[in-house]
Amino acid sequence: MHYSVCVLGATGMVGQKFVQLLENHPWFRVKSLAASERRIGKKYGSEVEWIVSANLPEYAKDVEMVPLDPRYVDADIVFSALPADIAKEVEPKFAEAGFAVSSNASAFRMEEDVPLVIPEVNADHIGLIEVQKRRRKWDGFIVTNPNCTSTMFVITLKPLMDFGLKSVRIASMQALSGAGYPGVPSLAITDNIIPFIKNEEEKCESEPLKMLGSFKGDRIEFAKFRISASCHRVPVIDGHTEAVWVEFERDVTVEEVKGAFDSLKPLDLPSSPEKVIVIRNEVDRPQPRLDRDTGKGMSVVVGRIRKDAWGIKYIVLGHNTIRGAAGASILNAELLVKEKIV
Ligand SMILES: NC(=O)c1ccc[n+]([C@@H]2O[C@H](COP(=O)([O-])OP(=O)(O)OC[C@H]3O[C@@H](n4cnc5c(N)ncnc54)[C@H](OP(=O)(O)O)[C@@H]3O)[C@@H](O)[C@H]2O)c1
Repeated sequence: MHYSVCVLGATGMVGQKFVQLLENHPWFRVKSLAASERRIGKKYGSEVEWIVSANLPEYAKDVEMVPLDPRYVDADIVFSALPADIAKEVEPKFAEAGFAVSSNASAFRMEEDVPLVIPEVNADHIGLIEVQKRRRKWDGFIVTNPNCTSTMFVITLKPLMDFGLKSVRIASMQALSGAGYPGVPSLAITDNIIPFIKNEEEKCESEPLKMLGSFKGDRIEFAKFRISASCHRVPVIDGHTEAVWVEFERDVTVEEVKGAFDSLKPLDLPSSPEKVIVIRNEVDRPQPRLDRDTGKGMSVVVGRIRKDAWGIKYIVLGHNTIRGAAGASILNAELLVKEKIV
């Protein structure tokens, strides 16, 4: 069985990653692609400034670009890689018209009746879809994935929840592709680090508490630990690296943490990696260039797990446009298909 899909924002950084990852997908077939108004009616191949791999996939070259309007889209699933302000207007129109919208944008992530999902972390939160459809009187719905920085450390926090989390601090070193295309000017970032990313720290301090919270039938009860985030843009193309400090309710050993990381199992979905959290024991790993493609970019890689005066600290790294964006959204859509919601 194949499902037809449309990508909104298909010419951008995340949109291009969707187009790349959806080539030869076992369940999904790209039927239409959309971006801003000036692209309508033109061929994707002539419009996109392709930068995510050596070649634009053959299948996408002649796809005609459609308006961001449900009346012109023939698809079972709509992937959204739109800027948040545009997503805020456009995604509800698709949901109202009966589409399953799997979104990367932040516009609806924190709405009470919108699931914010990482399948290995909180698959049960898709139960909110029924609540959303009922409340909003929509035939379709919106499901979101988190921002690319929260994704990596939330995956590692999930298996640590049983130890009782008291507080979490993270410092991110975020790749350039996280800023979209063309993104940060080269003269601003070469030989430099920018210690500010608009709205990123707020997202990293709120989204994890929703994802690590519990689904109570019609709402999410947020997790209760404290989070502090400091986010920084660094001159790396792909792959967010994060230093994480976790304070627990009790004394926890490095071995217990490693065992917990190993215990997080992948789901049986086409885009699931073989291993969700890969532990590297070398003293100088993970590194973006060496580790970002682990598990085809869907694993997160952890290293330097050690004890400190407050608890445990470690480094986690993940591919921001795959596990943190397009791959995350595709994995969510696969979960919806498997659970027969689509
Ligand atoms: N980059 C990441 O690692 C990452 C990770 C997680 C989430 N996200 C989220 O994913 C979304 C896309 O990010 P990105 O990095 O791919 O951004 P981007 O490279 O700037 O791409 C934006 C896309 O949206 C389209 N667009 C822009 N303005 C539009 C308008 N007024 N009307 C219709 N379409 C418009 C662009 O089309 P044109 O080419 O026609 O202008 C382009 O296809 C954002 O919400 C971002 O926060 C990004």
